Amino acid sequence: MVVVCPRILPGCRLSQITRLLSTKAASVNGTKVEVLGREYTGDHMTNVTPHLLSHIGRDLHLQPHHPLRHVAQRVTQHMYRQYLSPRGNPLFSVHSQLHPVVTTHQNFDSLLIPKDHVSRKKSDNFYINETHLLRAHTSAHQSELISMGFDNFLVIGDVYRRDDIDASHYPVFHQLEGVRLCTLKELYGTHQNMDAYHLFENGERTEDHQGVHSAEAARRMEAELKGCLLGLATSLFGQDTEVRWVDAYFPFTHPSWELEVQINGEWVELLGCGIMEQEILANAGVQDKIGWAFGLGLERWAMKLYGIPDIRLFWSTDSGFLSQFRFDDPATPVTYKAVSKYNPCINDISFWLPKDQQYESADFYDLVRSVGGSLVEQVNLVDSFTHPKKQLTSHCYRIVYRHMERVLTQEEVNDVHRKIEQEAASSLQVSIRCSE
Ligand code: PHE
Repeated sequence: MVVVCPRILPGCRLSQITRLLSTKAASVNGTKVEVLGREYTGDHMTNVTPHLLSHIGRDLHLQPHHPLRHVAQRVTQHMYRQYLSPRGNPLFSVHSQLHPVVTTHQNFDSLLIPKDHVSRKKSDNFYINETHLLRAHTSAHQSELISMGFDNFLVIGDVYRRDDIDASHYPVFHQLEGVRLCTLKELYGTHQNMDAYHLFENGERTEDHQGVHSAEAARRMEAELKGCLLGLATSLFGQDTEVRWVDAYFPFTHPSWELEVQINGEWVELLGCGIMEQEILANAGVQDKIGWAFGLGLERWAMKLYGIPDIRLFWSTDSGFLSQFRFDDPATPVTYKAVSKYNPCINDISFWLPKDQQYESADFYDLVRSVGGSLVEQVNLVDSFTHPKKQLTSHCYRIVYRHMERVLTQEEVNDVHRKIEQEAASSLQVSIRCSE
């Protein structure tokens, strides 16, 4: 563990120090580009900047209690529940720490994206050099994982696209990809006369299925895929959510669809999906299976689920933002409340709990909110210990004071803080130890 003494960097908060350290995860120095321990030589295609690279290693989707992680966990749990092995274990494996630098072959060619396709443009991607780029989608890992033998898997990770920056666009965001390959038996079950069923045929490509797929196999895969994703959307957004399927196009799936849900009267695209092009499976060495895939943007889901108004907030290290998601059950329903742009005032309060009377932290939280009102942003228990001789328990709470519309003075905060102490002492029978 790295211990940083805050005195080394005066005026720097610990969160900022951690950020400074994590910028080391990737750097560009002359023609040398380093990303998470791998080194590349830049060339005429290189367009990654130090600022962009500073996002690498933040791994928001892996940070405990981060809203993106809550959403990723909910999707994962849904997939775990939907698909169990005969012994009752989850069928899907989760890959959430794959290196973000991929080859142009992984990101484009392996997915049958034509050589002259617009999505390859330098102006739309972050290239490390001519042959490598920061993945533009988690689909970049499909082919590799299939070649490795995975049949049911999720890929969760940061993806990079050059784009304008505004409330709903940011050059780095997070995707969750799902891939499932099925054998004939898995798709049809076991029947007496298996000869009557087949995955493949030599037919014409139509709107509904690829030429190599039997119409019935494609229909079953579509029904399974749509059923799974509808279940996912309604389990997160509510059973009564209006949903609709829209035909779509992706070079790597056919047919393809997008799932939209209606939120506050507006249709929102939640994900893209489809039946995987058989050529991708064949190129990855799979002959006897048919596959479906979907990809969704975690930020989009989290913004709609929690009412987060701006995509840039996910990168916030401000505890006013992060504390709103500090819960262990990812299915906890919360609605995001705007965080003040003014600086917080932080005061601690410590007291001995009453000896022979019941005490609940929740009572103290209510008390702080009723005395402090809109001045209080957060209250957290930061320390608890029991004195061995006195047999008394002490709690220390940190109260973050911050107003939405104005700067608070230390005096007015002290005033409220003192009132909280008095009120706690009289109504909760605690004895104040010290406060600051
Ligand atoms: N990769 C696609 C995107 O980023 C989403 C997708 C994944 C579509 C898998 C179909 C199948 O938009």
